Amino acid sequence: MGIDELPTPSLIIDVARLDANIADMAARMRSAGVALRPHFKTSKSLEVARRQLAAGAIGFTCSTPEEVRLLQDEGVGDLLWAHQPVGPAKVAFAVEALRRGGLMVALDSVEIAEPLARAAADAGVTVPYLLECDTGLHRAGVDPDQAVPTAGALAGLPALELRGVMTHEGHVAKHAGDRSAVEAAGTAAGTLLAEIAGALRTAGHASPIVSVGSTPGASSSPAVAGVTEARPGTYVYYDANQLANGSATLADCAQTVLARVVSTQRDGRAIIDAGSKAMSSDANPTAGGLGLVCDPSLRPLDGVRFAGANEEHGYLKGAGLKVGDLLRIVPNHACTATNMWSRAYAVGDGRVETWEIRARH
Ligand SMILES: Cc1ncc(COP(=O)(O)O)c(C=O)c1O
Repeated sequence: MGIDELPTPSLIIDVARLDANIADMAARMRSAGVALRPHFKTSKSLEVARRQLAAGAIGFTCSTPEEVRLLQDEGVGDLLWAHQPVGPAKVAFAVEALRRGGLMVALDSVEIAEPLARAAADAGVTVPYLLECDTGLHRAGVDPDQAVPTAGALAGLPALELRGVMTHEGHVAKHAGDRSAVEAAGTAAGTLLAEIAGALRTAGHASPIVSVGSTPGASSSPAVAGVTEARPGTYVYYDANQLANGSATLADCAQTVLARVVSTQRDGRAIIDAGSKAMSSDANPTAGGLGLVCDPSLRPLDGVRFAGANEEHGYLKGAGLKVGDLLRIVPNHACTATNMWSRAYAVGDGRVETWEIRARH
């Protein structure tokens, strides 16, 4: 079956590119001497996860309870739930998931940790955790100079067991357009995290795990001395944002949305059957638009721009498109595009398989 026979819109995974990306990142982390704990949110696919494990991933990073549950049910034995376990439902979930074993959580304050620590102590469950540190993204995570006092305060709570430190150095992508600045920011983030781990050890806290994690930082932060693991996620598919920050070339992009031109009533504009519910609305700060428009063999269509979208209609600006034309569009952000779909078509070796996308909100 060729892709021209697939329904439109649909989400397509190029299996050869996916396998190459998985093998390449696994080799890169092996040569940096760090463990690979990919983020599962990018694929939410057990078929992809099994390939990553076969290539040497030690386990996965998860954002949501559903991702944790799915991978625990699959028997994956080493998970990091890298999101704040706040609120009674998440605390109850965390205690049950911790009871099953093979899970660490991320914590960055006594405020977050206390309800979990008390519930876990009541249940007789230990809470292995990484102290989340802010190395520049300014999202969650303690300020670097607060790591030692926070670890000291957390040591006073029951059931908690510090395993190390983590950061998400996603801020390195803000240097898109200047790859050497991306690399320098990644090195700085890894260096800062390794220094924080050193300060914790000096203060008498164990910190065997020093975990960085991002695709744009994957070529720099894991190489810093003292870093022990990396958690890139987007690398399995890459996307238009990763093209913009220099982490990938178009030939690496394994995920595309297949779409057809459905109307050309207005001059200089074509309407396609993929809108915001196919692509997600994530922007590309560099290129703008909702994705990179290509022909079926993944050659970019010069002069055609994905200018806007309604839910099921995409607005392409540019001349020369005809009703029925088949297009492949590289999403701006692979992870949010994944979450728009219940299944993807995995295309390779003249075969098409249907891969379920699970654990969506
Ligand atoms: C905590 C954490 N770790 C790792 C990642 C993976 O980063 P990327 O999507 O750049 O591969 C993310 C992405 O949001 C994250 O939030």
